[in-house]
Amino acid sequence: MCGVVGYIGGRQAAPILLEALKKLEYRGYDSAGIAVIDGESIDVRKMRGRLQLLCEHTRDGQDVPGTVGIGHTRWATHGAPSDRNSHPHLSNNGRFAVVHNGIIENFRQIKAMLEGKGYVFYSETDSEVISNLIQYCDQGDLVKTLLAAVPHLEGSYALGVLSLDQPGCIAALRKDSPLIAGKGEGESFIVSDIPAILNHTRDVYLMEDGEVALLTGDEIRFFNGYGEAVRKDIFRVSWDVSSAEKGGYEHFMMKEMMEQPETLRETVRPRLKEGRVDLDELKLDGDFIRRLSMVHLVACGSAYHAGRLGKDLIEKYLGIPAEADIASEFRYGSPILNGDHLLIVISQSGETADTIAALREGRRRGVKTLAVVNVVGSTIAREADHVLYTWAGPEIAVATTKAYTAQIAALILLSAYLAQERGQLAEAERAELIEGLEKLPELARRVLGEKEQAQYLASRYFNRGDVYFIGRGIDYSLSLEGSLKLKEISYIHSEAQAAGELKHGTISLIEQGTLVIAISTQKRLREKMAGNIQEVKARGAAVLGLVTEGDEVSAALCDDCLRVPALPDAVQPILSILPLQLLAYYVAALRGNDVDKPRNLAKSVTVE
Ligand code: F6R
Repeated sequence: MCGVVGYIGGRQAAPILLEALKKLEYRGYDSAGIAVIDGESIDVRKMRGRLQLLCEHTRDGQDVPGTVGIGHTRWATHGAPSDRNSHPHLSNNGRFAVVHNGIIENFRQIKAMLEGKGYVFYSETDSEVISNLIQYCDQGDLVKTLLAAVPHLEGSYALGVLSLDQPGCIAALRKDSPLIAGKGEGESFIVSDIPAILNHTRDVYLMEDGEVALLTGDEIRFFNGYGEAVRKDIFRVSWDVSSAEKGGYEHFMMKEMMEQPETLRETVRPRLKEGRVDLDELKLDGDFIRRLSMVHLVACGSAYHAGRLGKDLIEKYLGIPAEADIASEFRYGSPILNGDHLLIVISQSGETADTIAALREGRRRGVKTLAVVNVVGSTIAREADHVLYTWAGPEIAVATTKAYTAQIAALILLSAYLAQERGQLAEAERAELIEGLEKLPELARRVLGEKEQAQYLASRYFNRGDVYFIGRGIDYSLSLEGSLKLKEISYIHSEAQAAGELKHGTISLIEQGTLVIAISTQKRLREKMAGNIQEVKARGAAVLGLVTEGDEVSAALCDDCLRVPALPDAVQPILSILPLQLLAYYVAALRGNDVDKPRNLAKSVTVE
């Protein structure tokens, strides 16, 4: 996710901004920039690539005079990484500069409205509309101007704003995206992540959604949505810089798991509009959608597990065959492809060699390709015919968590959209699905908030030698992911089995005390799963169940239980995987493993 900083005080701003941005580098970024008020103009320096380039270009900021400025590290969402798409963005009249974290969902409408009034846009970003909207709403007073602009903005944002008409101030505003204000001796800061300013001050104000902050060197004033002054207490940060870089968490994996309510919201919400799923951004041809006769979903590892869920969704909603394949198998297999097929490749990094090879093979054979991908501008994003981005932000821990759940969310949206465009999504089904998707971030927050449940169970089971995950249908795909998560970071041998398949061989491995994790979240398969649980219990297994709240019958069969709220089957896996991610994390941590960098693994597998 992007980083936002701002400085106002008695010292030269640029070196302080660059130093603060360096502290945000760990979050991942593809470009960086700063804007500083220099007398009668705003000096903007920004470029694609490492922050070091910007430092070299400005001699560590020495070449940029001025004591009031804002800065940004960008993780591309709208528009590939480029100098132009980097922040800060100036308004057309050059009097406002803006840095933005988050996503403006209705930026196309705002852009069209402003273009109709003669505004010109120089980037492909959603963020540039903000600086021009601010110019359009100018009231001669920065707080009033921002409050006039806010009702037009839909989406999430943390903003830092400079105005040449109030050169002694920085304004800041947030909604659903983190932003804090920091107060030092004769100087003030804004920052999206506390560590970036900890070497200057530990006194910060935590901003609430909808609040505007107006900073001068001497004071920081806050206003609510009506423009009334708000009194806030200072929060004194007690932790040190290194722990803060993980947002106060011990590992990136935990931080990233905890970000899931936000990343799911970013991925889903902009695509739900007026009761319909809106993926017009894909620019898929209507005729092609109607003709579509088969879908191939191809990926590696966890992304393949997401693809398996995608296959079920396509078959359920579109009623056409779908196949999920491991990229390295697809490539050397003999898949039957034709012009009415769609090849969906799924990848967090967008750089996985096997997935790239499968994509190229598909293109070579003339099939239309669509990438579900997280990294904007990555090889897969550039080479696919159509791209559906997961907006999970940078993922640093090797074991994927938030990118995986965002992939499932994207596949739910995609299959519902295709069915809707083919006239196959019944009204009631669409309403149920949209309601489930809308509830997801809050329910995910609740499940993650109960992480102690998984922690306790991890403490009971962390020293097991072998673990078997069982489930049916979507719960089998979840078993594969739960098992992969556990084995890759805990180094415990683990396998996933389709529950009905156990009796055809694997059950011979079950003996007294063997841990079986049984996933049973689908009402229609409960009875069948109950039978499988009894089968393994009869052979002495200890059964840890993952069941939906209220399903006391399944719970009673298990020795221990993880519980998740019930959602429509299509959406359920996103919630159900969360306790399994937490369980894997706590087991690995208890075993003293390097959770973020498990042995032998790389974040991006660029070799075949
Ligand atoms: C497991 C994991 C891997 C990746 C796989 C594909 O936690 O992260 O299995 O899912 O290597 O990577 P991407 O999605 O970058 O193509």
